[in-house]
Amino acid sequence: MRHLIDIRELSTGEIASLLDIADDIMLHPEDYRELCRYKKLATLFFEPSTRTRLSFEAAMYELGGQVLGFSEAASSSAAKGESVADTIRVVGCYADIIAMRHPKEGAPLVASGVSTVPIINAGDGGHNHPTQTLTDLMTIRREKGSLSGFTIGLCGDLKFGRTVHSLISALARYDNVRFVLISPEELKLPSYVKNDVLRAGNREFKQTAADLADVIPQLDVLYMTRVQRERFFNEEDYIRLRDSYILTPSKLANAKSDLTILHPLPRVNEISPEIDSDPRACYFRQALCGKYVRMALILKLLEVTK
Ligand code: NCD
Repeated sequence: MRHLIDIRELSTGEIASLLDIADDIMLHPEDYRELCRYKKLATLFFEPSTRTRLSFEAAMYELGGQVLGFSEAASSSAAKGESVADTIRVVGCYADIIAMRHPKEGAPLVASGVSTVPIINAGDGGHNHPTQTLTDLMTIRREKGSLSGFTIGLCGDLKFGRTVHSLISALARYDNVRFVLISPEELKLPSYVKNDVLRAGNREFKQTAADLADVIPQLDVLYMTRVQRERFFNEEDYIRLRDSYILTPSKLANAKSDLTILHPLPRVNEISPEIDSDPRACYFRQALCGKYVRMALILKLLEVTK
């Protein structure tokens, strides 16, 4: 039985095949409509979510399966003091596969150690978010035609942003991907990602706190992120840092004409709404990809083929 806790558990070939299947589902959804009939997905969300939970649920429904779960810890037995391990043992009696999000880093890994069904990490604290990465990879491949040979700028909260950690971990395996890490000093990429992924893989990267307008001209992909308010120890720091980087039309003045602008969403302030109508804004198309990669992943982990 396979789980998906960290994106590095998937080989490059497996990622390519998941993205191929996701593309195929997008083109021929009718071929996939019955494949998970009588299967159940449990979505256990101990933390807020719109896209991730709903795209998982839509994915399972579109495969002909069914969904059960909860969308906040307060409505589960966690509120009574039940451990993650016990919740998982019990939910495994009712569902064939589990997608879980938890504020504690490592909770899905603990879950996978006791689970009788596949566990998918739908975000663990400020750590990892592998299914968002599959979404990001699918979007980049569709927009750029390839996952190699480009310069990506990751901007905003690189410290607490779990989507950034997983995306860098995935992209580091492809040829000729250069990373520009744009953040205020206090929200820099954690050294474990820098050392274990970028330095260990001999990847080209630079860190900067420069203005977006100065960095943008060299980028092929720009990945904007929200400052992760819920992970701050005090509100004052959040307020001071939240507007450090805001993408506005004037910042884009010298950007490439084929720049791909991504954001895992939700957006707060970091991309001005005027950018939405720019053809380079890909974040809503990105959200759509999320459903298809999750369909492909559910099929893989349940070992269902067309
Ligand atoms: C992200 C997350 O939950 O980490 N959202 C998502 O899943 N698309 C990004 C965020 O919350 O900022």
